[in-house]
Amino acid sequence: MPQTKFLLDEKDLPSRWYNIQADLPVPLPPVIHPGTLQPIGPQDLAPLFPMEIIKQEVSQERWIDIPEPVRDVYRLWRPTPLYRAHRLEKALGTPARIYYKWEGVSPAGSHKPNTAVAQAYYNHQEGVRRITTETGAGQWGSALSFACQIFGIECKVYMVRVSYDQKPYRRIMMEAWGGKVVASPSRETAAGRAALAKDPQSPGSLGMAISEAVEEAAQREDTKYSLGSVLNHVLTHQTVIGLEAQRQLEMAGDRPDILVGCIGGGSNFGGFVFPFLQDKLNGRRKDLRVIAVEPQAAPSLTKGEYVYDFGDTGQMTPLVKMYTLGHSFIPAPIHAGGLRYHGMAPLVCALYDGKVIEAVAVHQNPTFEAALTFARAEGFLPAPEAAHAIRIVIDEALRCKASGDRKVIAFNFCGHGHFDLSAYERYMTGKLEDFEYPADQVKAALAGLPKVKV
Ligand SMILES: Cc1ncc(COP(=O)(O)O)c(C=O)c1O
Repeated sequence: MPQTKFLLDEKDLPSRWYNIQADLPVPLPPVIHPGTLQPIGPQDLAPLFPMEIIKQEVSQERWIDIPEPVRDVYRLWRPTPLYRAHRLEKALGTPARIYYKWEGVSPAGSHKPNTAVAQAYYNHQEGVRRITTETGAGQWGSALSFACQIFGIECKVYMVRVSYDQKPYRRIMMEAWGGKVVASPSRETAAGRAALAKDPQSPGSLGMAISEAVEEAAQREDTKYSLGSVLNHVLTHQTVIGLEAQRQLEMAGDRPDILVGCIGGGSNFGGFVFPFLQDKLNGRRKDLRVIAVEPQAAPSLTKGEYVYDFGDTGQMTPLVKMYTLGHSFIPAPIHAGGLRYHGMAPLVCALYDGKVIEAVAVHQNPTFEAALTFARAEGFLPAPEAAHAIRIVIDEALRCKASGDRKVIAFNFCGHGHFDLSAYERYMTGKLEDFEYPADQVKAALAGLPKVKV
């Protein structure tokens, strides 16, 4: 029988994260202060983040040691398995060899605890007692609630209204780990109240929830803020995924030709592909294709502009250069709540701008079709976010079927969809909507961006 799972021992758990900033052909553009429009320094970020995180954000060191207490928590579910998708290959009739790195085995059910645990640890080390955050699908909020529970920190989560309504069980999960959850926009912050005054029925967005969480952290002495994606340190923490996957593909005796991941803010994609990109950046694997998959409802890489923008709707965060649809743009309420974001990680954007990686956008109906094909072959029920990657994996595998190519395709299977069953039901009963790309709304949102000259 061909081998299905490629497993590492606990002793093989990576001891260092990979920081791709050390290998970028050109350094990232500077982060800009929203008031002065000048590059920011570490002190500007100190009200929001512990100093160790700020250092990691700008570090040019290729390797960053994973603290032993963080590795100790990782051991609850890491190393995660790499699977060969024999059954999916057979169902598709493809000669391609398909692998998936299964991150849904974490307590919260996704890759998000990889950085949540690290961030909670650094906050704990610096004596922080409360953390605020935002959550889209609820995956990040549950990951941070779990991590804060472990390190004895109070966690307050602003959950995007539409997900709060679509996924009550995610909220209950956060509460089970001691998290305090409010629907965003809320009446608890000035940013939330302003949004509700404009639209009392606002479905919310990640950009709005970030404004609320940042506002509260900036105003309270005892509180810091934690972001589940986008920032450099988050993507660095997630590289445990790719570092393990590299060794597991070696165990399988295969070398990837195509790597695929979905992108909301870029963290599971970056965490999976960055360790492999080291060889593409140094010229050893020029032929490696790396594909980021985004939703048509929020297509920041494929339709956005590469300019400076705020990370949040309320214009409270620093400005970063990224592919953006405009911070005031509120994406349609697709079920992949974790992908409803106007911007993208600056690291992912720099790689896309440098043509190191590719991007495609897909609609949610074909995405759910792919999710069911996968679930019926491999058993695991994907999160709607992960299903975006699966759509493209299946398309590439079918291309191999037509051409006869025996390509090796690997993707990051970033989370399970056990709390997304109402979305599956809508798909299976033909009620799921595809939202056309709202070109006019994006044009209006992009027109309002600040002009930054650096
Ligand atoms: C399962 C899952 N995948 C992907 C994402 C998107 O985030 P990122 O692009 O940072 O991985 C989320 C975000 O909530 C998620 O919950």
